Amino acid sequence: MNERYLLDCTVLANDEVAPHQYRMRLNAPKIARVSKPGQFCMLEVATGMYPFLRRPMCFERIEGDEIAILYKVEGEGTSLLSRFIKGQTINVQGPLGNGFPIESGFERHILVAGGIGVATFPCVAEALIKASGRPPEVLLAARSKHLILCEKEFREMGCLIHIATDDGSAGEKAFASQMLQKLKPDAKTRVYVCGPMIMMKTVSDVAVELGADCLVSLEAQMACGDGACLGCVVESKLEREGEKMVRVCLDGPVFDTRIIDWESHNFAHAS
Ligand SMILES: Cc1cc2nc3c(=O)[nH]c(=O)nc-3n(C[C@H](O)[C@H](O)[C@H](O)COP(=O)(O)OP(=O)(O)OC[C@H]3O[C@@H](n4cnc5c(N)ncnc54)[C@H](O)[C@@H]3O)c2cc1C
Ligand code: FES
Repeated sequence: MNERYLLDCTVLANDEVAPHQYRMRLNAPKIARVSKPGQFCMLEVATGMYPFLRRPMCFERIEGDEIAILYKVEGEGTSLLSRFIKGQTINVQGPLGNGFPIESGFERHILVAGGIGVATFPCVAEALIKASGRPPEVLLAARSKHLILCEKEFREMGCLIHIATDDGSAGEKAFASQMLQKLKPDAKTRVYVCGPMIMMKTVSDVAVELGADCLVSLEAQMACGDGACLGCVVESKLEREGEKMVRVCLDGPVFDTRIIDWESHNFAHAS
């Protein structure tokens, strides 16, 4: 297990970058030093009793002494987060989880982001460029044009970008899975996916069918973030000591899609 911290960190910026979507930059030297792409932290959005639980957020960027978080306002916790201002401190627990493996052995790397799921990918792209010398392809999918985030950042990194929107207001009118099908990933491709559960399942189905390696970064409601409460378990196809559940916070959030029992998930309640 890598080093973890529970630290008060100074807010350097907390700006609205699109409607209801914010980027928070934090001065967090100790956390930044040991964090990897795909890992996450738990933020204490209020010091009182409500909301009691910390909110999990992945690292968008890990640079020098700083970490950046890109987040969407969903409810009370993220609404409170959006009200932090420069100079305030926020308590951060992290880094948590396993992160994405950064391996240069594949011919193609395709990052597939659904909506705010893109938040984990800028630092993954940076790490892949460092490891392989080549920028990955990025498929940005969202309901509509104004929900496409980080396009400029990926372009600046030299990534080839594919855009798919449900309503056709930007890129192709297609779902992420349909767009991935067109990109024809094969056995020499690794596909990285983060977004709503139903999107991750359909994208995974395409990747697996075409023989590509596929990693998903799952989301779950979390309480401890540390493996203790079992609040974040999902069913897997692996059985360890009679147990098929895996903890998203500790065993993940990144999993090989082939070990997730997607059929057991109730997509009716998925975001
Ligand atoms: C490992 C991990 C990393 C994450 N990284 C990011 C990130 O980088 N950026 C970002 O915007 N969000 C991220 N999330 C989701 C984020 O944690 C939730 O949106 C947030 O906790 C909602 O808190 P809230 O109090 O605002 O909403 P609540 O009032 O708690 O809930 C509002 C709505 O959001 C839904 N919701 C709450 N928590 C989650 C969750 N964990 N996953 C899916 N839906 C949820 C609820 O079901 C409800 O419909 C991540 C989640 C996990 C597990
Ligand atoms: S959030 Fe407690 S075990 Fe995962």
